[in-house]
Amino acid sequence: YDPKLPPYSTGDPTSFAFPTARERWPIIITQAIDDTYRSVASCDNAEKADGGKKIVAELARLKYEVQHDRALTPIPDDGCPDVAGYNKELEQLGPLSWLKAPWLFTECYLFRRINAPFSLSAHWKNYDVFARQKIKTFRSSRPAVLELATRYKDLVTELRANPAHDPEADKLLFTEMCEVCLWGNATDLSLLTSLTYEDIQKLQGSQARLAAEQNILANDLPAAYAHLLAAKQDPAKKGKDRRVDIILDNAGFELYVDLILAGYLLSSGLATTVVLHPKSIPWFVSDVLPADFAALLNALAAPRRFYETASEEETLQGKVPEALTDKEVGELEFLFAEWSRFHAEGMLMLRPNRVWTGPGSFWRLSEEAKEVVEDLRDGELVVFKGDLNYRKLVGDVAWDPTTPFPEAIGPLGAGSGLNVLALRTCKADVVVGLTPGKDEELRQTDGGGGDSGARKWAWNGKWAVVSFSKGS
Ligand code: F6P
Ligand code: MG
Repeated sequence: YDPKLPPYSTGDPTSFAFPTARERWPIIITQAIDDTYRSVASCDNAEKADGGKKIVAELARLKYEVQHDRALTPIPDDGCPDVAGYNKELEQLGPLSWLKAPWLFTECYLFRRINAPFSLSAHWKNYDVFARQKIKTFRSSRPAVLELATRYKDLVTELRANPAHDPEADKLLFTEMCEVCLWGNATDLSLLTSLTYEDIQKLQGSQARLAAEQNILANDLPAAYAHLLAAKQDPAKKGKDRRVDIILDNAGFELYVDLILAGYLLSSGLATTVVLHPKSIPWFVSDVLPADFAALLNALAAPRRFYETASEEETLQGKVPEALTDKEVGELEFLFAEWSRFHAEGMLMLRPNRVWTGPGSFWRLSEEAKEVVEDLRDGELVVFKGDLNYRKLVGDVAWDPTTPFPEAIGPLGAGSGLNVLALRTCKADVVVGLTPGKDEELRQTDGGGGDSGARKWAWNGKWAVVSFSKGS
């Protein structure tokens, strides 16, 4: 079911897969080793500590295999139903070695392999090896979190005071919320290996967002808004559920902005329910697990405890976190009250499914996960967040960049019954939906790749595409 075009490969020096596999994967595994080791060191159960040491040894072996371009071996059977699918695909792809393999499959396989020793252990089954990094980065996005909390509270208060608002004003708000949600993705932790916290904070502020509007290369937000508005105004749908699904990407700041969008959709009546789809295993470092959702709400429920308690690192450095003002605390608590009410009333739901951590593209969903597609069809719109979800939608193959998005998503495009909106900052090679000549123009910009054959402009999250496909 995959598109019949060559997939990007870790063996291709012009692909972003090449440095990703050689430089970033070893760093990611090293971070996982350090984290596990830290937990082992502070563990007072000898049997658990022993199990932890075995995991560390397994991860070290995995790192060796990646760096020495060894063969990809079958994932050991840890009792989870996805193992067979991974191993079948590995067999079908033929003997593969880490540094000469299809990028999408191999990267998914990497995270599944990282998870296997935990999953096989007695005491570490649900351990999230990336949790420390996620929470730390979320704390460091404090300026943008506070700025958005003010904006959100004002906006919701205004929506309540004037429920009959003008659709043109609503369209502007919808655009703003979606763009907040889009750029929240620019700072995922798998890229963070090369960004400083100051870089992230600069990327997250409202100034940066406005300046970045011209970096959205294809912007279908007007069509997505028109679609949701038509459903809202449709007499046949009066009193019925109008659902928006969000296939989540990263935890922390990005999940926070996803909730801003979800809360806005519910408060404005553009949706009556929002279903969030997190991952089931630690994934691409920073992706959302159900526990991250709970951790975020906990942080908002007690903002002083979250922001004013010094972390281990701050204590070591003698740093005292700055106190929050009463106004800031009030705004964060407002968010907590809103979102936990939506959650308690069943308007905001979490629905994990193993399908999101499978090895392949989403072209296969209609065949391999019929019930998931059926379920998504019940909604008005499915929002796919982030780079990896986009790569999976279009199959991570070398499309001509002017290919229309509905064509590139194959079976999920026209006629599928799914209305798809991708909010993606570009952090890989593949891109579609561009106007003719745009790719060539961007390649000629500073650092854009020039005539090297590499589409470097698309690697760092500076550019974005917002693409809509109507399923009818
Ligand atoms: O760009 C490197 C990378 O690891 C990609 O492989 C992956 O698509 C992306 O980072 C993860 O980004 P996101 O969190 O936006 O899916
Ligand atoms: Mg991610």
